Amino acid sequence: MSPQVVTIGLGYIGLPTSALIASKSTYVLGVDINQKVVDTINDGKIHIVEPDLDIIVSKAVNDGFFKASTTAVASDTFLIVVPTPFKGNHEPDISYVESATRAIIPLLKKGDLYIIESTSPIGTTEKMQDLIFQSRPELKGEMYIAYCPERVLPGNVMHELVYNDRVIGGVDKASTQKAISFYSKYVKGELHPTNSRTAEMCKLVENSSRDVQIAFANELSLICDKAGINVWDLIKLANKHPRVNILQPGCGVGGHCIAVDPYFIISDYPQESKMIGKAREVNNYKSLWCAEKIQKEKLQFEISNKRKPKIALMGLAFKPNIDDLRESPAKYITQQVLQNSNGDDYFIVEPNIESHSIIKLTEFEYAVKNADIIAFLVAHNQFKNLQFSSEKIVLDFCGVFC
Ligand SMILES: NC(=O)c1ccc[n+]([C@@H]2O[C@H](COP(=O)([O-])OP(=O)(O)OC[C@H]3O[C@@H](n4cnc5c(N)ncnc54)[C@H](O)[C@@H]3O)[C@@H](O)[C@H]2O)c1
Repeated sequence: MSPQVVTIGLGYIGLPTSALIASKSTYVLGVDINQKVVDTINDGKIHIVEPDLDIIVSKAVNDGFFKASTTAVASDTFLIVVPTPFKGNHEPDISYVESATRAIIPLLKKGDLYIIESTSPIGTTEKMQDLIFQSRPELKGEMYIAYCPERVLPGNVMHELVYNDRVIGGVDKASTQKAISFYSKYVKGELHPTNSRTAEMCKLVENSSRDVQIAFANELSLICDKAGINVWDLIKLANKHPRVNILQPGCGVGGHCIAVDPYFIISDYPQESKMIGKAREVNNYKSLWCAEKIQKEKLQFEISNKRKPKIALMGLAFKPNIDDLRESPAKYITQQVLQNSNGDDYFIVEPNIESHSIIKLTEFEYAVKNADIIAFLVAHNQFKNLQFSSEKIVLDFCGVFC
């Protein structure tokens, strides 16, 4: 049976999306360049941590609605869900979207629907349209091209894929309508029509908005530290105002979205995006500040106790209760601290992953029991009920105990 939908990219977004579509009795071929990912999925298993996803993938594969491959085949709908990282200078890298698109151009036919879900700089969908029609001019006006960003929360993806509202922007009205009718089969949230440029910008703005708001909370945490005020108490009190809603500070901002997407605006509109740029600076600085705070605490301990402390660094993921380390401020802080370690004793803890290729991990209860200084970098649930003696020095950068 030839697939009705081909998804290109089977990662944190592409795999759950493919599985959801396949669970509605639609034949889906998921394509990934990583053979290991393809083999895992064809065995009915998953390679990422996401609640409920294993059950849905295993059923869809066993029922014959979902298959994975390293090569695409002809289909009616193509979804592009590949990474869009930034390059060394923070410029967006759309080369994955481009190579995924090039791979399917020969397979396209009249009436096909091509959708980009990858977070993309403004104008990417139009660029891909040009790429497609340069090679296949006979398809001009004969196929549908749209952009539909993903806004799910890792850890709650299977619910949010269905119930979140979606913004859908075609390169023309017919494309928007075609894409809306595609998503209406799988999504219960509202589907909001627009054009492709607005949809692209919408995704970037959503994450930039979060970044700016978190930067405000992080800035407050720096001021409060100097002023001797408990920032968590302060924010709780300020939020009693009916129109104030300050977010929680942390040890920076990470992940594939909030720490990355603002650069897609800054890079193209540097003069106009002053506040967005400043927020990125504040959030990046907060991580450095945390690393320095650990160093200072370590030196203070050495002076007071005439010996080196044992230090537990609690969490590596970019946010609580996930295994994703991409752009993680906790990982950055750990690396910074280890760089200056001089053979000190560190326990590095990440309860959501079994092992790391470079960093040696320690079991969290052992680390807490044996450390003199405990720095909480991620507010994982496993840490919330930890008991430790009052002699320990605790640096709670992410409000585990607030
Ligand atoms: N992870 C999130 O929470 C999230 C949320 C919203 C939007 N997004 C966006 O969705 C997109 C995908 O993110 P992700 O987290 O799923 O990435 P990911 O890295 O988890 O997965 C991407 C997959 O694409 C594969 N791939 C790369 N190039 C390919 C190609 N040419 N052909 C086939 N497969 C290819 C990789 O091997 C990988 O398995 C990104 O643009 C991201 O910004 C992610």
